[in-house]
Amino acid sequence: MPETYLPTVLDNRRLTETVHALRLQSAELARAARPGQFVHIKCGEGNLLRRPVSICRAEDGVLTVVLEVRGEGTRWLSQRRAGDMLDVLGPLGRGFDLSHKNIIVVGGGIGVPPMLFAARAAGAKAAVLGFRSRENAILAEEFRDVCEAVYITTDDGSLGEHGTVAGPLERLLREGGCSAVLACGPRPMLQAAAALAETYKVPCQVSLEERMGCGVGACLVCACKTVVDGKEKMRRVCKDGPVFPAEEVVW
Ligand SMILES: Cc1cc2nc3c(=O)[nH]c(=O)nc-3n(C[C@H](O)[C@H](O)[C@H](O)COP(=O)(O)OP(=O)(O)OC[C@H]3O[C@@H](n4cnc5c(N)ncnc54)[C@H](O)[C@@H]3O)c2cc1C
Ligand code: FES
Repeated sequence: MPETYLPTVLDNRRLTETVHALRLQSAELARAARPGQFVHIKCGEGNLLRRPVSICRAEDGVLTVVLEVRGEGTRWLSQRRAGDMLDVLGPLGRGFDLSHKNIIVVGGGIGVPPMLFAARAAGAKAAVLGFRSRENAILAEEFRDVCEAVYITTDDGSLGEHGTVAGPLERLLREGGCSAVLACGPRPMLQAAAALAETYKVPCQVSLEERMGCGVGACLVCACKTVVDGKEKMRRVCKDGPVFPAEEVVW
């Protein structure tokens, strides 16, 4: 059974207008965390549910999460300061299978942070990161520290290549030498990455996002449709995922 921890916030760094990186001190969480897993954080004192946030980094007794303010819960989290204590359940879910060589990680928007944890752990061959525009770009330097090559795309062309992650990803797959694609981001991006990987016969794993309740497999709020051995099967994103083999996802 996953445990609840009460880590202290070490610092809260603003990465963009709406995105914050929180470093939490917790030797237990940092030791147990695996790339692709998430934590379920209680946001405030009221009736608010916990909010799922991916693990971006876990080392030296410190867990880093990166969150984008979307509503009440993430706004509350973005206002935490050094010394505040959080109520954190986790680490939760099944993460990425990193038993491949020459991995390409693909991240879009707020799906980028968990891919840094995966890229670091796998020593990724390349990272392909997509953002709406230059102002929304995050963590590019951190990826350059751990990947052989980093490709950035923006929807408006204000940074890197104009367009989506599909452009650089297809070029990398066409060049060959890659044995797995791992992706997290908006669903259309995941679907495009999965389709390209299938075309080039490279296994692909995708991290799905669904609204969550309990986070531990009990309430079924996060159910999603998958296909296993040719049969449709409802799976829980929180417990059976959030990472699934792309060929099992019903888009
Ligand atoms: C496994 C997992 C990992 C995640 N990792 C991160 C992360 O690393 N960083 C990060 O910023 N966010 C992450 N999210 C999304 C984050 O959990 C939601 O943005 C957050 O729960 C919104 O809560 P809120 O109270 O701020 O907003 P709410 O008031 O609850 O909602 C605000 C808006 O966000 C939408 N929304 C709420 N929850 C989700 C969700 N789970 N998926 C898609 N849209 C949602 C709502 O429909 C609404 O439009 C993750 C979600 C999942 C399921
Ligand atoms: S959130 Fe309750 S089963 Fe997944």
